[in-house]
Amino acid sequence: MEKMTIKDLNLKGKKVIMRVDFNVPMKDGVITNDKRIKAALPTIKHVLNEGAKVILLSHLGRPKGEPKPEFSLKPVAERLGELLNQEVKFVPEVVGENVKKAVEELNEGEVLLLENTRYMKGETKNDPELAKQWAELADIHVNDAFGTAHRAHASNVGVAQFIPSVAGFLMEKEIKFLSKATANPEKPYVVILGELKFLIKLEL
Ligand code: 3PG
Repeated sequence: MEKMTIKDLNLKGKKVIMRVDFNVPMKDGVITNDKRIKAALPTIKHVLNEGAKVILLSHLGRPKGEPKPEFSLKPVAERLGELLNQEVKFVPEVVGENVKKAVEELNEGEVLLLENTRYMKGETKNDPELAKQWAELADIHVNDAFGTAHRAHASNVGVAQFIPSVAGFLMEKEIKFLSKATANPEKPYVVILGELKFLIKLEL
C-alpha cells in the first residue's frame, strides 16, 4: 500500500491519538454487537506492544454536537477493557483541562478513551480549532476508522493536518481489498453493495 501505516513508524514512548470507529449498536446502555470494537484490537494491541500511549477517539450515533447520555462511550471503554484484558481509562469529556491531565498521567502501554467526538459541534464541521486541540495531545495520529473514512471530520481529516497521520491495520486491510476492485480489476466484474444506510453508498 502507498499510504504510510503504523508499521512505518517508531512508536516507542510516543503519544498516539487513534481514530477508531466504535459506533456500535446499543440497547438501554448495553452493547448488542461488539464487532467494531474487536476489529480495532489488532492496531490497538500493536501500538501498545510498541510501548506507546494510546488515546482513542470515536463517535457513537448522532448526538448532533451536544452531550447526550445515551450516546456515551463509557460502556465501550468497559467492553474494550475486557477484550484487551487491561484497564481502559475513560474521561467523560472530549477536550479541555481534564482531558489534558488524563493524557499527562498516561503511562506507556496504557489506553485512554475520550468521550464521543460528536458531543462537539466542530467534529462534523471539521473545525480546525477542535482538530488542533486533539492534535496537541499527541505526537502521531492513526486513522483506523474505516467505517467513518467517507466523512471529512475533525477527528480523522482535521487532526491529520497538524501531526503525522498513518493508517492502522484495519484501514490498510480494507484499502488493499477495495483496491483490487478499483485499481485494475479483471473484467467483467460485478459489485454487490449492501448497507443499512444504502443511500450513502448509492453515490459510489
Ligand atoms: C457507520 O456506522 O456507518 C459509521 O460509523 C459512520 O456513521 P455515520 O453515518 O453516523 O457518520
